[in-house]
Amino acid sequence: MMRRPSKSGAPATGGRKLKPSTLMMGHGYDPRLSEGALKPPIFLTSTFAFESAEAGKRFFEQVTGRRPGGTEGLVYSRFNGPDQEILEDRLGVWEEAEDALSFSSGMAAIATVLLTLVGTGDVIVHSSPLYAATETLIRQVLGRFGVRFVDFPAGADRPEIERVLAEAASLGQIALVYLESPANPTNALVDVEAVKAARDALPARPDGTRPPIVIDNTFLGPLWAKPLQQGADIVVYSLTKYAGGHSDLVAGGALGSLAMIEPVRATRNVIGTILDPHSSWMLLRSLETLELRMTRAGENAAKVCAFLQGHPKVERVNYLGFLPEGSRQADIWRRHCTGAGSTFSVYLKGGEREAFAFLDALEIAKLAVSLGGTETLASHPASMTHLSVPDTRKAALDISDNLVRISVGVEDADDLIADLAQALEAC
Ligand SMILES: Cc1ncc(COP(=O)(O)O)c(C=O)c1O
Repeated sequence: MMRRPSKSGAPATGGRKLKPSTLMMGHGYDPRLSEGALKPPIFLTSTFAFESAEAGKRFFEQVTGRRPGGTEGLVYSRFNGPDQEILEDRLGVWEEAEDALSFSSGMAAIATVLLTLVGTGDVIVHSSPLYAATETLIRQVLGRFGVRFVDFPAGADRPEIERVLAEAASLGQIALVYLESPANPTNALVDVEAVKAARDALPARPDGTRPPIVIDNTFLGPLWAKPLQQGADIVVYSLTKYAGGHSDLVAGGALGSLAMIEPVRATRNVIGTILDPHSSWMLLRSLETLELRMTRAGENAAKVCAFLQGHPKVERVNYLGFLPEGSRQADIWRRHCTGAGSTFSVYLKGGEREAFAFLDALEIAKLAVSLGGTETLASHPASMTHLSVPDTRKAALDISDNLVRISVGVEDADDLIADLAQALEAC
């Protein structure tokens, strides 16, 4: 099956470069290829018929990397498919990435990227803390293959990052620098520009390259942070969160230059971590309202946090909109971000008893982990997502028993405030 260039969704109209929110309606899809269907059908097929044996041979040469330049046709659904390709074209638009890939989960994206970049005996340098499964993947799974790691705190400055890079270089070849910003649940931002400056100052590896910077942009992307612009080489996503946005699918993504993404695609082709056509189609639908949803959630979070901040039963609110003027974190935020997000931490006065009473009393907000959905969710990191984190590390990360994590959705802000107010009465 050959793909023809798409006519609809051209990136410019009358000389005007179109915005992502416009391109989400048609970019990468040509209705003429699908009986004129306005929306892309879900292509439930495991394989694609070749027009000739010669075409089949050429496609396989491309899929296996014998012929450079990527694949021009569809071959087999472990490699690619129309729904995934439209989704990938549209994902790339948000961060002006040359190339993008879809995965069966955020962890599938992260694991595929790491498997592509890491070799036995290599060292991974990462910001801390990371999403728990990412930390387990690096420390325990890759650790079994002789991969080591060194970490630095999310808010570190350039000299601190340089010290950690030097320590890592003394242990072995640095495979990559892996970042997550903002960190969960502290909301500490990583200075990607400082990481890039420190990485660029490293001596080149034997092949002339320097370790790539990979960043998990799940919490603020793709609307409020675009780390490729600050020097990251690959951006990874749990698309399960804001991009999917309705808490009804699990998916992942990776974005970057053609040169960075091509080897990741080759790994994905081998291990089969691509997203399925149905979830890809659901994500296409989600992306049409991404800007609307994230904008509304961000506005709601600002109102909710303003209410919580002044409440007598609240000790403090860790929200990116409240970073102290003149602080280093505020400086990173100003250079890297265009919004404060809608996921934040609230420290209640008291301990686990008060936090549980508050959570149990919520009527609109749901008691569940995850974030970025249309509905507001609240959870208790110390006893849920971060239960297995050792107490000393919990203390260092400020994951205390009075901490409640909230991801605000797109409901009416005053209804949410009324719900939080009555739940605070109960604690
Ligand atoms: C920051 C971050 N990265 C990665 C993941 C993993 O994504 P998934 O659950 O889609 O595999 C999550 C999930 O909560 C996350 O919060």
